[in-house]
Amino acid sequence: MGNVRILFPFFSLYILLLMDASIAQMPGFISLDCGGSENFTDEIGLNWSPDNYMLSGKRANISVASETRRQYTTLRYFPADNNKYCYTLNVVSRTRYLIRATFLYGDFNNYKEYPKFDISFGPTHWATIVISDANTIESQELIFLATDPTISICLSNATSGQPFISTLELRQFNGSIYFINYYENQFFLSVLARINFGTESDAPVRYPDDPFDRIWQSDSVKKANYLVDVAPGTEKISTRMPVDVSRDERPPEKVMQTAVVGRNGSLTYRLNLDGFPGFAWAFFYFAEIEDLGPSDTRKFRLVLPGNPDLSKAVINIQENAPGKYRQYEPGYYNISLPFVFSFRFGKTSDSTMGPLLNAMEINKYLRKGDGSADVPTLAALTAAYSSAEWAQEGGDPCLPAPWSWVECSSDPQPSIVSIKLSGKNLSGPIPVEFTKLSGLVELWLDSNSLSGPIPDFSGCPNLKTIHLEDNHLNGNLPSSLADLRNLRELYVQNNLLSGKVPSGLLNKDVVLNYTGNTDLRKEGNGGKHRNIIIGLTVGATVLLVAAVTFCILMPKGKKTPSKRGKFLRGLASQKLVSTLGDTAAEAAPCFTLSEIEDATNNFEREIGSGGFGVVYYGRLKDGKEIAVKILANDSSQGQREFSNEVSLLSRIHHRNLVEFLGYCQEDGKSILVYEFMHNGTLKEHLCGPLTHGQGINWIKRLEIAEDAAKGIEYLHRGCVPRIIHRDLKTRNILLDKDMRAKVSDFGLSKLADDGATHVSSAVKGTFGYLDPEYYMLQRLTDKSDVYSFGVILLELISGQEPISNESSGMYCRHIVEWAKMHIESGDIEGFIDRRLHEYDIQSMRKIAEKALMCVQPRGSMRPSISEVIKEIQDAITIEKGAETVGEGSSDEISRHSVHSSLNLGSLDFDASEHYSSIDDSIAIDS
Ligand SMILES: *[C@@H]1O[C@H](CO)[C@@H](O)[C@H](O)[C@H]1NC(C)=O
Ligand SMILES: *[C@@H]1O[C@H](CO)[C@@H](O)[C@H](O)[C@H]1NC(C)=O
Ligand SMILES: *[C@@H]1O[C@H](CO)[C@@H](O)[C@H](O)[C@H]1NC(C)=O
Ligand SMILES: *[C@@H]1O[C@H](CO)[C@@H](O)[C@H](O)[C@H]1NC(C)=O
Ligand SMILES: *[C@@H]1O[C@H](CO)[C@@H](O)[C@H](O)[C@H]1NC(C)=O
Ligand SMILES: *[C@@H]1O[C@H](CO)[C@@H](O)[C@H](O)[C@H]1NC(C)=O
Ligand SMILES: *[C@@H]1O[C@H](CO)[C@@H](O)[C@H](O)[C@H]1NC(C)=O
Repeated sequence: MGNVRILFPFFSLYILLLMDASIAQMPGFISLDCGGSENFTDEIGLNWSPDNYMLSGKRANISVASETRRQYTTLRYFPADNNKYCYTLNVVSRTRYLIRATFLYGDFNNYKEYPKFDISFGPTHWATIVISDANTIESQELIFLATDPTISICLSNATSGQPFISTLELRQFNGSIYFINYYENQFFLSVLARINFGTESDAPVRYPDDPFDRIWQSDSVKKANYLVDVAPGTEKISTRMPVDVSRDERPPEKVMQTAVVGRNGSLTYRLNLDGFPGFAWAFFYFAEIEDLGPSDTRKFRLVLPGNPDLSKAVINIQENAPGKYRQYEPGYYNISLPFVFSFRFGKTSDSTMGPLLNAMEINKYLRKGDGSADVPTLAALTAAYSSAEWAQEGGDPCLPAPWSWVECSSDPQPSIVSIKLSGKNLSGPIPVEFTKLSGLVELWLDSNSLSGPIPDFSGCPNLKTIHLEDNHLNGNLPSSLADLRNLRELYVQNNLLSGKVPSGLLNKDVVLNYTGNTDLRKEGNGGKHRNIIIGLTVGATVLLVAAVTFCILMPKGKKTPSKRGKFLRGLASQKLVSTLGDTAAEAAPCFTLSEIEDATNNFEREIGSGGFGVVYYGRLKDGKEIAVKILANDSSQGQREFSNEVSLLSRIHHRNLVEFLGYCQEDGKSILVYEFMHNGTLKEHLCGPLTHGQGINWIKRLEIAEDAAKGIEYLHRGCVPRIIHRDLKTRNILLDKDMRAKVSDFGLSKLADDGATHVSSAVKGTFGYLDPEYYMLQRLTDKSDVYSFGVILLELISGQEPISNESSGMYCRHIVEWAKMHIESGDIEGFIDRRLHEYDIQSMRKIAEKALMCVQPRGSMRPSISEVIKEIQDAITIEKGAETVGEGSSDEISRHSVHSSLNLGSLDFDASEHYSSIDDSIAIDS
């Protein structure tokens, strides 16, 4: 244990050295010249460093006439065996990167066959590299969100030739394009096509034109099945005028300054997408770089064979990126694409100009592989021996190929069954990590310099063979070894062990060799001479006494803690019962399942569903209408946890929060009961089935916003501890009979587990409403709710969903981007819901500007919810003023005075009453 701790700093040092190998020209750039020997800076200003810390593989020099860049004159190649060979790179967790691996064969080994091998990213199979031409660079790119401080890129499974690599390039992204939300925990994006249209030259655009060194391929490159079937009338155009690419991860200006236009009304292209059919992230980039006449319009549609829905949406650059030289990037977060990808942009009949296209990106979703079970344990172990060659193999211990000294079981999740570290110069105590490998069957640690006692292996119940011979181990042979039911062989000869061989071991059917341990004897009180093994020395009697004493104490020592444990458990359960008695049971009525079944008529009418579960309509015996929510994934909830959460919930009361009426936990179901809200969700009123005609008017929308914001303010400021909703959205704002709004689903984030990976389990929310800062940094504050509320305000203004829906044929577009584009360019009218007719533009502008403040990328720059309430109330005042022009303004004044008292933070009576009651109950809990 101590050993591990002490050695950790060396491990970090080792990683730092890797990092230092490149003095980055951009933060987060690492450019490895595999097989190289010196640092150098290339002609575009990238700093390359050699991979000379790699212990495996060999360097080769190659010479290829068509490729003279220095990083391509060297490579590193590896044996064609069953092992994997890994590069480990240091990254910053929760940061997005591009990694690019390139391969230029150059016939380095004069083989008769071209190499074919696999490349993996950690445990994930990334690609199979198939070389088919000695003089052409093969390249693979992956976009990933780092979840650990290091990544490993491994070569393995050579099915022909020898695996090799020319360069490895790591590029750090800055912002949030390529943000794929929850998917990002399950998928990587494998870059398939990144095309710059309209260039005359074959040369790609990359660093320094693209600050992130993405490589934008020219559409002029001639390759088989690459951008063929070009429509007649396609013309390349370009401009030198600056194009606004201010949002930093959009294609660089140089890419946007060129485009193709379909003079005859169409643009068509066909290209092969390797690895498809599959699901893709596909975006198109447009900027109007032609001078259009005042009466000109450019409107067109995307036509994909077999995807008629997509053609419903009209692309209109001027409308979405008003002004000249601004970028518009509609795209699809998840679209199914074929291997042979043909697409056409066709102008609409009322458009005067043909379609235009500046750039395109297609990335394939690559599902992340599950790592093996013992990764953390093995990471701690290799960290402790970081300077040893065997500890530097890198990557997952089992996948895609196991480390040379490890054997793994295969299904379903690989785990380690055998460790062979004989004669590897291990010293110090036996690392405890070995005792944590629950699937371990064989352990070979013989012929090292291990010292100290033999640890307790009861955590490895499957152990069959243990080789510890020829070390310097001392202490006893633990009797726990006798409890290993599957143990068949135990070799401990030639150590410094002492004491008695536990009788359990002697009686078992176990091959046991303990010779060469001068002080180790058989247990039992029979004739001394029989138990003493050759070489017993003077200290024997003392040792014997010590051993006996130890044995007498042992059983006692064992019994006492278990008794105490039982006692403590008893206490704990008593305490639990009484806590529940005090709080949950008293505060929130507990319904029986049969009551709920009666009330809902056996869950007859489903009225909603969401991340937390399905909601049913019900009516209690007294006639009260209720909404019954059955929590999803409740199996992960302990009874106690559930009750604690419920007791907290039951103390939150506010007139703008949906009232919690009780709960039920029975039959494996966790159920929450709420008041029924007659008018459904705000979402339904904005864009759902309830939108008849014009939907709700502007002043009503403002009142709803005010109600909801007050509910949130209460959660943020009126509750102790403060409650962050985490999942605010129009679906969670419910409307009662009088169209007053209440917030629902508060306090549920702890109750429901989305069951996703360790990375996402902390981040909760809904795509479109999720605070990017919270997502990136996992730092949750009340400002994350403010972000979501900002999105809701934008929805109220525009009547649009936060992410327009692909299946309805619309392009995927985030409302925040869209709003910024309009509001910042002064075209707020273009953003306002067309169904709204009566509104004061002043109040509209006020809300729009506040909404944009709420969706600032940094939480610290967003207003508090109380400030937002003030703005909404001011907007209401403006509207009311407009309604009653000419009337006395006394009403207005009194409204104002109410607002200012609210701004001072005093909460209304309803709220402050419960403020104190919460304080009290929390004190009871703790
Ligand atoms: C490359 O540059 C880094 C940083 O300056 C330096 O630490 C390293 O020793 C250099 N390596 C070689 C091979 O010159
Ligand atoms: C590759 O070339 C470099 C410089 O020309 C030389 O020092 C090195 O020995 C060569 N390596 C091999 C493996 O031939
Ligand atoms: C090795 O590559 C071959 C051919 O590409 C493939 O069929 C096989 O599944 C791969 N083996 C592993 C363990 O990935
Ligand atoms: C464009 O269309 C017109 C009319 O359909 C045709 O005459 C002309 O040849 C076309 N131009 C090209 C370049 O195909
Ligand atoms: C990265 O983001 C920071 C802060 O948002 C910005 O100042 C910087 O210019 C960005 N870098 C690039 C290359 O876009
Ligand atoms: C894309 O959609 C398909 C089908 O709807 C789904 O199975 C798949 O998981 C989605 N992929 C991603 C990355 O969301
Ligand atoms: C026990 O180990 C010793 C020393 O390695 C060896 O000489 C002896 O043959 C072993 N005995 C058995 C029964 O394996």
